[in-house]
Amino acid sequence: VGGLTLSAQASAGTAPDEPSDALAFDPDAYTELTTTVTTDDGDKEVKYRFWKAITYVAKPVDETYQSLNVSVPVAIGGKAIDASGAPILFANSVGGYMPSSVADADGIGGGGMPGGGGGAPGGGGGALTSNQLLALAAGYVVVEPGARGRTLKDDDGAYYGTAPAAIVDLKAAVRYVRANKGRIPGNTDRIVSAGTSAGGALSSLLGASGDSRIYATYLAKLGAADASDAIFATGAWCPIADLEHSDGAYEWNWGANKQSNGEQVDQTTSKQLRAQFAEYQASLRLHRIDGHGTLTARNYDDYLLTHYLQPSATRYLKGLSDGDRAAYLADNTFIAWQGGRATFTWEDFLTHVGARKKDAPAFDPFDLSSPENNEFGAGTTGARHFTAYGARHDTSGLDSRRVASDIPEKLDLMNPMYHLARRNPGRSKHWWIRLGTKDSDTSLTVSANIAASAAGLGDEVDHLYYWDEGHGANTDPADFIAWIAEVTG
Ligand code: DHB
Repeated sequence: VGGLTLSAQASAGTAPDEPSDALAFDPDAYTELTTTVTTDDGDKEVKYRFWKAITYVAKPVDETYQSLNVSVPVAIGGKAIDASGAPILFANSVGGYMPSSVADADGIGGGGMPGGGGGAPGGGGGALTSNQLLALAAGYVVVEPGARGRTLKDDDGAYYGTAPAAIVDLKAAVRYVRANKGRIPGNTDRIVSAGTSAGGALSSLLGASGDSRIYATYLAKLGAADASDAIFATGAWCPIADLEHSDGAYEWNWGANKQSNGEQVDQTTSKQLRAQFAEYQASLRLHRIDGHGTLTARNYDDYLLTHYLQPSATRYLKGLSDGDRAAYLADNTFIAWQGGRATFTWEDFLTHVGARKKDAPAFDPFDLSSPENNEFGAGTTGARHFTAYGARHDTSGLDSRRVASDIPEKLDLMNPMYHLARRNPGRSKHWWIRLGTKDSDTSLTVSANIAASAAGLGDEVDHLYYWDEGHGANTDPADFIAWIAEVTG
């Protein structure tokens, strides 16, 4: 942490209703920094106060990860501003369910994997950073939490960052912010979470699971602040969520597509998984946001096409010059462009996307080789199955052919769909969800199901797909910042 002394030392006169000394935010322990943010209105110089590497739990397991940074704008474009009542952007930098740390950051947007450039692989870091910088330039407070991740091992070889560590840490960080209401600048009742990919999954989980009791023992063990962990609004980019149902969803979506090496995945496996998706989707009993009845595996292609993908292509093409649009359409003859609207078939769309990113099963492979197998590791076991199908077909030498007995609980702790299905009253009621149409890191149904679940509960949902964008894209960050003002105002 360099030569700075920024740990939150409570002063002698701590009032009884303030958080315990270890969890008291020190309003004076900042450094003043300046950054230039490129916005739609041109470059803006932002002077901000930066609090670094504040441990957010009283009994940390690893402070490198269980600490957060706070950035508060004090002058924008030379004009003094007061952010004491501003919304708080709570931006995680988790990628790949890996550990993420902000402890070495030298300013806003510097978090991510230690030694890495910050943020999620595949562009997530850039996406997150633009959210954070634009939020700062809009006068918001930005909190950047670190969180434990799946690869962390102690001296005895025991994994301490696998599920549910990351979500427990993020909740503890939210509680820290809440418990310091009035000391930490910003409106603690207007916390807006953001994250990309695994970080997007965790952001939607944070939103869906607000104040859920199923995390209580985990939070108590860390000495998390005694405060609400509900958040006001959720931003999630390409969430890699609903993991235990993603193998089926993936084959439903990308089953016909070859891998980048030109090979077809095993078609027996693909078909069996695809059948699981039909059953799962029916069990959700979700309604299409467009009002056209229940959302099922049979009509999901039509739903994605008409509600998300064709409007996405339409927006993209409308944004091009006449010449660029004509060139794009000449290169992509599967798109019919009529009356200012793009239409095409699902099959042609799949061909257009091309190679699928993952083999089958995509998330719980038989040889335990996925990041998700590691995410569900425990004790000294680095990777485990988390689906019955994966365990039954195990090739790694698992004798029992069953998932471990603690897995069902871990799945509930990690899945936003579980909390939405239970209509969790503490959930976020505002959802900003974004996904690239060429992102085959997971099924395109995953984010659409989160959106349909939240909308079905009456929540406000803004879900768009970015045309031709891949994993980690965030092409409308200014709109997200404007949306925050709208929903929190
Ligand atoms: C991420 C990407 C994946 O394909 C995955 O399975 C999990 C996480 C990510 O970029 O965070």
